[in-house]
Amino acid sequence: MKPVDGDYRIYGERIYLRPITAEDTDMVLEWRNSKTVVGNFIYRKPITKGEHIDWLKNKVNKGLVHQFIICDNVENTPYGCVYMQHFDEENNKVESGIFLGEDKKRSKGIGTEAAKMALDYCFRQLNVHKVVARVLAFNKASLRMHEKAGYIQEAYLKDELYIDGKYEDLVLFGAVNPQH
Ligand SMILES: CC(C)(COP(=O)(O)OP(=O)(O)OC[C@H]1O[C@@H](n2cnc3c(N)ncnc32)[C@H](O)[C@@H]1OP(=O)(O)O)[C@@H](O)C(=O)NCCC(=O)NCCS
Repeated sequence: MKPVDGDYRIYGERIYLRPITAEDTDMVLEWRNSKTVVGNFIYRKPITKGEHIDWLKNKVNKGLVHQFIICDNVENTPYGCVYMQHFDEENNKVESGIFLGEDKKRSKGIGTEAAKMALDYCFRQLNVHKVVARVLAFNKASLRMHEKAGYIQEAYLKDELYIDGKYEDLVLFGAVNPQH
């Protein structure tokens, strides 16, 4: 995949998506390393600034990851990130991930709107056949959000991961391009 053009925007009802930049680094690291985000992610180690800069250089800038900042349409306030990674060109498939940075912005429908916009981007712009997402089974907000955004629960994997001294169940979601 080609990297996303810096001027590219995706507009929704309440939010828009813009490509992540190096200037977002401190903000994104604060979000990504916060307890409520890390605690819902499979990868639990805090991300260092160096790792994030490498991620931008080696993944985002090379087009291997398409990462967007979710922003408010009226106030421009940044809320969080939605991204696509693990492009599987052979099977025309990609994985999507999402997080909002602050607890008080959650459960207001922003995640669902962003996830729908990201799906639409994958289907219309990237023309991928399938988008998948992995969600830890205890993460009720994310399970609900993926369903509302149009994903189908495809699998429930019992004790799939060993995280922080505990076996965790994992739910696999998928959404197939309706235009294919
Ligand atoms: C997951 C996340 C992106 C969802 O975004 P959001 O804006 O909160 O999602 P929405 O408001 O669109 O939808 C959340 C739904 O879950 C529901 N919900 C929230 N907490 C819940 C809980 N503990 N139990 C059951 N349902 C819950 C909300 O009520 C809402 O459903 P409704 O609209 O039917 O009432 C956001 O909560 C987040 O960033 N969480 C931390 C990071 C994370 O978990 N990322 C995803 C990893 S897979």
